[in-house]
Amino acid sequence: MKDKLSKIEEEALQAVTVVTSEVELQQLRARYLGRKGEITAVMKGMGQLSPEERPLAGALANEVKDRLETAFAVRQESLRQELMQQKLASESLDVTLPGRKQGRGYKHPITQVTEEVVAIFSALGFGVAEGPEIEKDFYNFEALNIPKDHPARDMQDTFYVSEEVVLRTHTSPVQIRTMLEQEPPVRVVAPGTVYRRDSDVTHSPMFHQIEGFLVDERVTFGDLKGILTTFITEFFGSNVDVRFRPSFFPFTEPSAEVDIQCVICGGSGCRVCGQTGWLEILGSGMIDPEVFKSVNYDPEKYSGFAFGMGIERIAMLKYGVNDLRLFFENDLRFLKQF
Ligand code: PHE
Repeated sequence: MKDKLSKIEEEALQAVTVVTSEVELQQLRARYLGRKGEITAVMKGMGQLSPEERPLAGALANEVKDRLETAFAVRQESLRQELMQQKLASESLDVTLPGRKQGRGYKHPITQVTEEVVAIFSALGFGVAEGPEIEKDFYNFEALNIPKDHPARDMQDTFYVSEEVVLRTHTSPVQIRTMLEQEPPVRVVAPGTVYRRDSDVTHSPMFHQIEGFLVDERVTFGDLKGILTTFITEFFGSNVDVRFRPSFFPFTEPSAEVDIQCVICGGSGCRVCGQTGWLEILGSGMIDPEVFKSVNYDPEKYSGFAFGMGIERIAMLKYGVNDLRLFFENDLRFLKQF
């Protein structure tokens, strides 16, 4: 029995050294130490031994078993190490390679220009307000002194959602909403999306405006001119000439459109400015007393001015973009230039 165990041990230890994979090692382990393995078989045969011999033989078998277990474990570890070394040698990883760059995002030029305009007015003490794009007829027209039969409604081709609800055609309704909520003095700019039934090279059915207005005691047309001239100088540069031209809006009186010297030809006349040397960039005026009445401001006590301009338009002029549609096509070759 002792010989038999020694022989099995010797054989097994020899076999362990020649296996080349963990799978083979497992098979070998089963052959010697498994439930139907050789050592197990020997142990089962111990019943035939005499009671004196049995403990000795049992101890011996256990020792052999332990040594084999150890040998298998050691070999298993060395096989793993070998496999790892092989992998390290064959799979190369260059840790000095630069990482893959993440594409960097940019703000859309319309967002950039909006933020720039807001920043200029913030520095002048203006806050920021917002209103809904789906707007009640009351805020978009009625309270702005544009009643239902007013011819001014034809000036703006409106998208009607229902009889009383429209897609706002300008940001001026935010004036009404703000004044209904706040008492003077108010100084606010209101950027946002507006909608008109219009579509060609210079018109989009969806575009952006920024509204601004200031109400306090003794606000004059001089304040309007001062603030807007300051804005234009900040935005377009101090060398740009500005001109205030009489105009009409139902919600301002008097009203003025503001032109800047053509940024393309410098004022000598070109195709962009229609040979006039001037470009219109915004509408403005002193807030009409009728508007104050609809927001319960006392027109005897307060006065104010308001203005509204198209973001795409000033962006086109500032950056020399000749087609409005470029802003909405989202062609990265265009957007990345800002
Ligand atoms: N709401 C006018 C427009 O969209 C612009 C404007 C705003 C004019 C405020 C005067 C005062 O054309």
